[in-house]
Amino acid sequence: MINYSERIPNNVDLSGNRTLQRALEQWQPSFRQWWDDMGPDGSSNYDVYLRTAVSVDPKGWAHFDYVKMPDYRWGIFLAPSAGDRKIHFGEHKGEPVWQDVPGEYRSTLRRIIVTQGDTEPASVEQQRHLGLTAPSLYDLRNLFQVNVEEGRHLWAMTYLLHAHFGRDGREEGEALLERRAGDADNPRILTAFNEKTPDWLSFFMFTFITDRDGKFQLAALAESAFEPLVRTCRFMLTEEAHHMFVGESGVARIIQRTCEVMRDLKTDDPVKLRAAGVIDLPTLQKYLNFHYSVTGDLFGAEVSSNAATYYTNGLKGRFEEGKLDDDHTLHDDEYTILDVADERIVERHVPALSALNERLRDDWIRDVQAGVDRWNRIPARLGVDFRFKPPHKGFHRRIGLFAGAHLSPEGELMSEAEWTRRHLEWLPTEADRLFVHSLMSRCLEPGKFANWIAPPARGINNQPVEFEYVRFN
Ligand SMILES: [Fe+2]
Ligand SMILES: [Fe+2]
Repeated sequence: MINYSERIPNNVDLSGNRTLQRALEQWQPSFRQWWDDMGPDGSSNYDVYLRTAVSVDPKGWAHFDYVKMPDYRWGIFLAPSAGDRKIHFGEHKGEPVWQDVPGEYRSTLRRIIVTQGDTEPASVEQQRHLGLTAPSLYDLRNLFQVNVEEGRHLWAMTYLLHAHFGRDGREEGEALLERRAGDADNPRILTAFNEKTPDWLSFFMFTFITDRDGKFQLAALAESAFEPLVRTCRFMLTEEAHHMFVGESGVARIIQRTCEVMRDLKTDDPVKLRAAGVIDLPTLQKYLNFHYSVTGDLFGAEVSSNAATYYTNGLKGRFEEGKLDDDHTLHDDEYTILDVADERIVERHVPALSALNERLRDDWIRDVQAGVDRWNRIPARLGVDFRFKPPHKGFHRRIGLFAGAHLSPEGELMSEAEWTRRHLEWLPTEADRLFVHSLMSRCLEPGKFANWIAPPARGINNQPVEFEYVRFN
């Protein structure tokens, strides 16, 4: 169970380690200040129907109640230890897992944890103005739930830094609160986390696609030889599932609404649909293309010696490493990647160890595709002849082997001139963004939804859809 009687809720016996407890209690006011400065805009007095973790039990860990967000009990929750686990991949395979960081991997592990940790506050910063244009109380509550949990993920990573990396770790904990998404002088570490999330369509695409990058990164880290990281990531993954649900169902509800209007007006003309106040399906596809390509870059270069080293040293595994049937060292294995050669896209076989970034990206691609397939049932059901399709993985990439190439979403290579002429057929234009922006206005009557999005099939925690998910004071 989680101990809520202490200043920092935890299930790690924090009071048994006074030095660590004091260090985190010193960081706590800085976190709170960061939340006040960069958390959801103008929301500090709202009562929000939020879930809070009460145990780390996979079933029934959540408790729902009204909470003012600044009073949310952020804390440190680790999934239970799996007993005497052995390292199950890489050169240390078969050895006991580490309860503390081996000296030789200290700086690498710190870098991995800081990079993951940096994304958590970044997304809160990217989303901080969205509450002002929420399409419903239900959606506003979901936004805030995602935000407080990203704040808790920052706590999770900061705990690891404080508990295992001494003074360096404490300095990194401070720096995590100082960088700012999109700031020219002190930006967040990864590009996708410096983009704007200016409207709710972007928010839903982000939580569907980019939080799913989070799922795969956390899942790979949850295989690590460093046991505290494993237990931290396992619990974070249970929270992440809700973020992806918010994104997938959010876009699904937009598709639903648009398809209903298409059916009623008997048209697929974007001009008429926009005039009717809904987002035409080709524009949704462009947003999918954008978020998909920007997020694809987060997995890094297709061929990476760092990825090989992380794996060999036991720091980061593959997705579901434990379920894979091979030798878990990958010395003799190959993996197929795509490359550009002589103005063609070609397959190349490279050592599997060097291709682990690409492998994780492929796992993510399959997962995104499954979600897109679920979206496609909506136009199919409503008799609308349109299907969404994730773009080619080389489309609009800035990192890796496709960074210098120009591809259509279908995967045809083209010249830079042709790309310049045509890319706005595939990515949101300024006019598209302005149109989406023009739909964003607050709809806060319980049970009412903005015109461009359908209500959800059911409410949160078995509450009705018209439940008062947020109370304003
Ligand atoms: Fe997160
Ligand atoms: Fe998330």
